Amino acid sequence: MKFDTPATTNPIDQLKIVGQPVHRIDGELKTTGRAMYAYEWHDPNLAYAYGYPVGSTIAKGRIISMNIEAAERAPGVLAVVTTLDVGKIEKGKYNTAILFGGDEIQHYHQAIAVIVAETFEQARAAAALVKVDYAEEQGSYDLAEAMGSAVKPKDAGGAPPDTAVGDFEGAFKSAEVTLDETYTTPDQSHSMMEPHASIAAWDGDELTVWTSSQMIDWWRSDLATTLGVDKEKIHLMSPFIGGGFGGKLFLRADAVLAAFGAKAARRPVKVALPRPFLVNNTTHRPATIQRIRIGAARDGKITAIAHESWSGDQPDGQLETAAMQTRLLYAGENRMTAMRLATLHLPEGNAMRAPGEAPGLMALEIAIDEMAEKLGMDPVQFRILNDTQVDPEKPERPFSHRDLVGCLKLGAERFGWPGQAQPGSRREGNWMIGSGVAAAFRNNLLVPSGARVRLDKEGVVTVETDMTDIGTGSYTIIAQTAAEMMGLPIDKVAVQLGDSRFPVSAGSGGQFGANCSTSGVYAACVKLRDAIVKKLGFNEQDVVFEDGQVRSGSRSVPLAEVAGSEGLVAEDTVEWEKLSDSHQQSTFGAHFVEVGVDLATGETRIRRMLAVCAAGRILNPITARSQVIGAMTMGAGLALSEELAVDTRRGFFVNHDLAGYEVPVHADTPYQEVVFMDETDPVSSPMKAKGIGELGLCGVSAAIANAIHNATGIRLRHYPMTLDKLI
Ligand code: MOS
Repeated sequence: MKFDTPATTNPIDQLKIVGQPVHRIDGELKTTGRAMYAYEWHDPNLAYAYGYPVGSTIAKGRIISMNIEAAERAPGVLAVVTTLDVGKIEKGKYNTAILFGGDEIQHYHQAIAVIVAETFEQARAAAALVKVDYAEEQGSYDLAEAMGSAVKPKDAGGAPPDTAVGDFEGAFKSAEVTLDETYTTPDQSHSMMEPHASIAAWDGDELTVWTSSQMIDWWRSDLATTLGVDKEKIHLMSPFIGGGFGGKLFLRADAVLAAFGAKAARRPVKVALPRPFLVNNTTHRPATIQRIRIGAARDGKITAIAHESWSGDQPDGQLETAAMQTRLLYAGENRMTAMRLATLHLPEGNAMRAPGEAPGLMALEIAIDEMAEKLGMDPVQFRILNDTQVDPEKPERPFSHRDLVGCLKLGAERFGWPGQAQPGSRREGNWMIGSGVAAAFRNNLLVPSGARVRLDKEGVVTVETDMTDIGTGSYTIIAQTAAEMMGLPIDKVAVQLGDSRFPVSAGSGGQFGANCSTSGVYAACVKLRDAIVKKLGFNEQDVVFEDGQVRSGSRSVPLAEVAGSEGLVAEDTVEWEKLSDSHQQSTFGAHFVEVGVDLATGETRIRRMLAVCAAGRILNPITARSQVIGAMTMGAGLALSEELAVDTRRGFFVNHDLAGYEVPVHADTPYQEVVFMDETDPVSSPMKAKGIGELGLCGVSAAIANAIHNATGIRLRHYPMTLDKLI
């Protein structure tokens, strides 16, 4: 199905099941431990062996030699495969750094061997016996130092790295009120609960891999490239995933090591990356340095706005696109953005939840707060005054739907926004109390997505798609979509996900998964409905799918009966055309936060948080709310505690575990409220939905920073805002 005209009325609009607060259909499997995660897959007929990775202890250079004799002789060891044995191999399309193979070391904890043994403990013990001689080279590990030699890359996540409209420099110089400040965000870690893990089993030249992947087809293609085998010979499964946040978008070393280990040991091999490897062996969100300049007239209208951002990555790596939202969020005739990339030899930087916008808004939304203060305006009013309904860089392009103003107004009312509160003016005992606000913004991306639907003689519809559920609720919203389309109760729908034998879906990324994958299921269901109507010779015009029946005129047939003993199958892929050019599609929100800052220790405690989100139709308010409160919690961590500490001498992240990399716990976010604007976006898809999974993270950390300023009168511009920075 090509979706190229705004959606009018369709069966989804009945909202009998879609849009309803349906509990997760996979909830029972998860809470009873029966949902099988990658490492848990167990076939009693297979003799599994265990692989343990060895990581490089230098960040840059070459391996001269490896001594594996002691490891090979260690108890239980079945095979040792080294990067030198394997030699240089192809790299997957989505991988920047080498995952395995050859003597070149690009970053600390790059995988250089896998030890396969009868037990996990034996493999781990033997891994410690591997001796390596390196020729170490000096790398570049410090963004502040390297930014001077940063370059303009060809590409910034598919967009140009620079944009300019009007005369920024001139307008900034002549503006009545100006701001010119620099903000920094540190390297950040996905820190998902389930580590990267894979089981590989060869049968001749055919490979089956159970893994933990957000994007089945990307992994399958890249695994085929990396191993040098035909993609069709690889069967990938990832039915349940214990969190990804972008860290499982791309093929990682666990799958590659398991495949090589399994070949060498002639046994199915399980490899889970140990927790420290998650930090230095996989990807992270790169640190940024961001300079923001804003000029405004006394009445509060922005006349000039510029956002420049620097980040670093491996050679041939990519930018953290932190200036992107500044192209679209506020009005202003004279504007410029520029993003630069420095070469760093730290582990590969890559997408982490709301790549670009999340760190970009951590800076921009403090700058906006600072401007409001300079202008003597309520920061809510300042944002409303500078709203735009068109792309400010291309005024002929309207937003498909944009209700940032509605979010700010409703949020202020629900939160009890104190207006332009004097900083440092509120006290409760030892606590300085402050309120902060920030806008949320994240683009709505559209990716083709396929699904297959089968109607069987029991009247059950089974949906098959390689879509993944990374804890987000994909199973549930997909079941809701098929149930609504086919007029079935939700327990007459079965959903099968995360298997490379199913049609290729959007996958879970970029907050496009929910809208795109359900649109693919919608498209397949349209085909199934057509097949049913045709089979029965019904009149298309008055046909109704309801209560497990298909009706037309005075005729009514149970779906179970239409299916016959053979069943009926339909498959389709939704693709988007043109609309994405004519309209700018984005999602919006407003975050409100109240903090207390301890007068003596400088410790910040979040007291309450509110997010108001405008993201098209909400497919399921329970799972959508879970996405937003999870994101708000992540934003609390990014604001107050999360930071990968760089050893700038040796080039690695020092705090490579959950003891040193501090993520929030429940006590850190005591009260969270989420409100969804009641809206649809008919331009976005037949579902009229948009992304919500990353929006909740966008802006929230700045709202916390602004609340700290409001509480204390101290303006912090460098994350995380730990107590030492307040004292
Ligand atoms: Mo997201 S960072 O695209 O999983």
